[in-house]
Amino acid sequence: MTARLLRGRTLSFHSRPEARDDDASYAYEDDGALLIEDGKILAAGPFAEIKAQAPDGVEIIDHRPYLLMPGLIDPHIHFPQMQVTASYAANLLEWLNTYTFVEEQRFSDAGHAARFATLFFDELLRQGTTTATAYCSVHKASADAFFAEAARRNLLMVGGKVMMDRNAPDALTDTAQSGYDDTKAVIETWHGKARNHVAITPRFAITSTPAQLDAAGTLAREHPDLLIQTHLSENDAEIAYTLELYPEARDYTDVYARHGLLTDKALLGHAIHLSDREMGAIAEAGAVAVHCPTSNLFLGSGLFDLALIKQHGVRTAIATDIGGGSSYSLLKTLDEAYKIQQLRGYRLPPVENFWQATRGNAEALGLADRIGTLEPGSDADIIALDARATPAMKIRMETVTALEEELFVLQTLGDDRAVRHVYVAGEAISLT
Ligand code: GUN
Ligand code: ZN
Repeated sequence: MTARLLRGRTLSFHSRPEARDDDASYAYEDDGALLIEDGKILAAGPFAEIKAQAPDGVEIIDHRPYLLMPGLIDPHIHFPQMQVTASYAANLLEWLNTYTFVEEQRFSDAGHAARFATLFFDELLRQGTTTATAYCSVHKASADAFFAEAARRNLLMVGGKVMMDRNAPDALTDTAQSGYDDTKAVIETWHGKARNHVAITPRFAITSTPAQLDAAGTLAREHPDLLIQTHLSENDAEIAYTLELYPEARDYTDVYARHGLLTDKALLGHAIHLSDREMGAIAEAGAVAVHCPTSNLFLGSGLFDLALIKQHGVRTAIATDIGGGSSYSLLKTLDEAYKIQQLRGYRLPPVENFWQATRGNAEALGLADRIGTLEPGSDADIIALDARATPAMKIRMETVTALEEELFVLQTLGDDRAVRHVYVAGEAISLT
């Protein structure tokens, strides 16, 4: 591939911002450029400097006045739940049993799964999401469809065949052994193929027997470089039922710890209702609490306490949790996170939010050397955001003078309409 120069207002984070005006936490260039070649960012900085080091006659694509940022990362989403979004339920367990466990059965069919893999990645890219960590269904066919389509598009995706062997319809259960065998086969076929990463995916304690959580723990020990994803302490009735099923555990977090699943590779979806002991144990293990704000509001699950979680030293991430979540947009997700923290008494700075959706989520996945920043050597997954994308945004932007205000407009008023351009491994994607 020949080199290309993307010109625009570039923004990339170095570290978690500690305040609204923490401008040491990021690099911003008003007239910046990214030199890209062979799917990678070769150089980033002021346009004049980068142009001077680019090959003669390099193609220049001018995206000014848009913000050029790393592609957004969604570290908790359910691939088979596109048609579960917007389902009316009183709470998590009713929602799972009434809609989700019915819909996911359809993903045993390879053709259905292939159709939805196409629709799923089209939608993510329209939203500026270039990497996601997804739960597939229990069926190996769903993981095969997910990874085949991700490879075809050269996307960096993380996914896992869900392991679940009880408390669900027969058509949606595996066994401790088949869950292990199928996950092993998915790892062998797909992990490291193109840009794919496989995650070990026991759905949650309620739908796995202790024998299955042991099998998941064995997989984690056999593949220490793989991420683990599961759900933790999302809803009061879920927690009570879990403690009935695992009477020997001190608390919900201890269930996973006892089965070798509480490690620095674990992505713990929701993690809302935690004791001090649990937060301490999660911090000590280096596991990640994944905030899913639109889902937590939609299902009435609870208000994630970001300030408290940070105080305990727990690593964090932010995600849509489609189909419990109500928007595919990480911009809308940041907006809802901000509102939840308003109710919790923490004024969440927009720079912290945008760090989280880019570098912060990449760090949560252990992939910050490849995605989540614009640093040289990174994969060229890049988006161009337009803070004047709608009439209301345009009017509001007339009074904006600082970058952090623009980010606040983007998260508060923005959605897929603000995503003007998307590059995957250096190639422009046509947004459908
Ligand atoms: N807990 C177990 N499975 C799920 C799921 O699919 N969505 C959500 N939000 N929580 C879960
Ligand atoms: Zn989930």
